[in-house]
Amino acid sequence: MIDPSCIRADFPILDRQINGRPLVFLDSAASSQKPVQVLDALTRIYRDSYANVHRGAYTLSQESTEAYEEARRKVARFLNAGTDEEIVFTRSATAAMNLFAYGWGLNTLKPGDRVMTSVMEHHANIVPWHIVARHTGAELVYLDLTDDFRIDLDSLGDRLDERVKIVALSGMSNVLGTMPPIGAIASVAHEVGAVVLVDGAQLVPHSPVDVRTLGADFLAFSGHKMLGPTGIGVLWGRRELLEEMEPAEGGGEMIRDVRLFESTWAPVPHKFEAGTPPFVEAIALGAAVDYLSELGMGNVLEHDRRLTAYALKRLAEIPDLSIQGPSDITDRGGTISFHIPGIHAHDIATILDEQGVAVRAGHHCAKPLMRHLGLTATARASFYVYNVEQEVDALVEALAEARRLFGLS
Ligand code: ALA
Repeated sequence: MIDPSCIRADFPILDRQINGRPLVFLDSAASSQKPVQVLDALTRIYRDSYANVHRGAYTLSQESTEAYEEARRKVARFLNAGTDEEIVFTRSATAAMNLFAYGWGLNTLKPGDRVMTSVMEHHANIVPWHIVARHTGAELVYLDLTDDFRIDLDSLGDRLDERVKIVALSGMSNVLGTMPPIGAIASVAHEVGAVVLVDGAQLVPHSPVDVRTLGADFLAFSGHKMLGPTGIGVLWGRRELLEEMEPAEGGGEMIRDVRLFESTWAPVPHKFEAGTPPFVEAIALGAAVDYLSELGMGNVLEHDRRLTAYALKRLAEIPDLSIQGPSDITDRGGTISFHIPGIHAHDIATILDEQGVAVRAGHHCAKPLMRHLGLTATARASFYVYNVEQEVDALVEALAEARRLFGLS
């Protein structure tokens, strides 16, 4: 079990005061805070052993190359990947999704083929498919949501057929918190021959993920939502599919040979890592992975669930507040979007900030979902390992203050 009071001491930013109040940071779904272990890893590399990777015969370059490849091994172990070569470092989850869309989608889809996704997706799992569809003539098909904010499995049955070549689905919605049954969906997708990509940007930081049992063929996520730095993401893919996939970027270090009119590619994963990779960020992500592994991802999930259950109970005390997301905590994460009629989400976030409480407000890069919900924006509180129940209480008190200010109580 996680003891957030010990954990909090590792996060210097949590000592900050905001508008004269202790910071209550409830926006980890946008980006998490960083423990000293990660901050130290970042400064240690720049201070003590910085040189470009995979280029130098000299000691410093060999040291940073070894640290970079060790980070790859750490991420592989964290996901229980078959080999280290299945881990491709990118600059973000978005870049990982785009790499798959262009490396796989652009090179395999034909007119009439379909890409299946859902209405609850982040723009990073919609816009690349618009671009791919424009270039290939493939079509998009969407899974619906049920009234209780889950993927409508009837729509899967209705729309999944041999035309669907790619199923690209979030493992945890950044708005609703919904965690779809990826294994079950992937297994029927595989029956029609589709390849399955999971957007794990919210899932991987908050839940144990074993890629050998997840059911997906590709998984994208970023470092900065899981205690790591910005500028680093991961695309995991099954080895044999990564071998088949084309690179989406050309440049230094991703080649086997270059001649005037043709080039050949380096082995995976390097053929997908053109140019100087974000190796300092990857090494610091390795420190974040160490930190989370030490806590145990099962404990992280359990902590999130306990706080989410408490927050759902406390938020239900606020008149008129509606939650956009499943009420059952067994298949949802600790991301709670809500709406109070008569107060715009941005006003909620501003009033909360005056009380030191940081939440995100807006469309959360999920405009099709907002249209589906009939809203232009929600406020969103999200939790991580350092959050405590008293912070949920602070959120509820600040929301009561917002209602008073708007004459609603
Ligand atoms: N995708 C991130 C969020 O949901 C930035 O806030």
